[in-house]
Amino acid sequence: MEQTFIMVKPDGVQRNLVGEIVSRFENKGFKLVSAKLMQVPTSLAEEHYGEHSDKPFFGELVDFITSGPVFAMVWEGENVIATARKMMGATNPAESDIGTIRGDYGVTVGKNVIHGSDSPESATREIGLFFPEGGLIDYSKDM
Ligand code: CMP
Repeated sequence: MEQTFIMVKPDGVQRNLVGEIVSRFENKGFKLVSAKLMQVPTSLAEEHYGEHSDKPFFGELVDFITSGPVFAMVWEGENVIATARKMMGATNPAESDIGTIRGDYGVTVGKNVIHGSDSPESATREIGLFFPEGGLIDYSKDM
């Protein structure tokens, strides 16, 4: 079953949006297979956002994601990667449809509440980076 990495960013945690965001994914029908509230070390932030290292906003991005706790999650389900991206809305909240997470709760492109993997390759890489200990829940026997 497909899995994706989803992270409530420091602005979302500070604004008490964790429960709301978890509810949206639960209500959609996806399964939470791992989650943790954590402070992202600078080295992990730089690796996670490595593809943006040459962008002018890279420093700002790393500073922001390390500025307070994040809520890191792995969600599982059919087409969860693409569906989660739809649920999140466009990266820039100014362009996100109302009804999406960023469209409903975000204002600026930097503080856009949530991150989600954009491809199966990114999902595998990001789950490995944030959950190196593994131990994801296996629901297959409960269904
Ligand atoms: P995210 O999905 O976490 O992946 C990369 C992040 O870079 C993106 O969300 C935005 O929060 C951030 N980002 C993109 N463009 C800009 C920008 N112009 N200024 C600051 N941050 C940006």
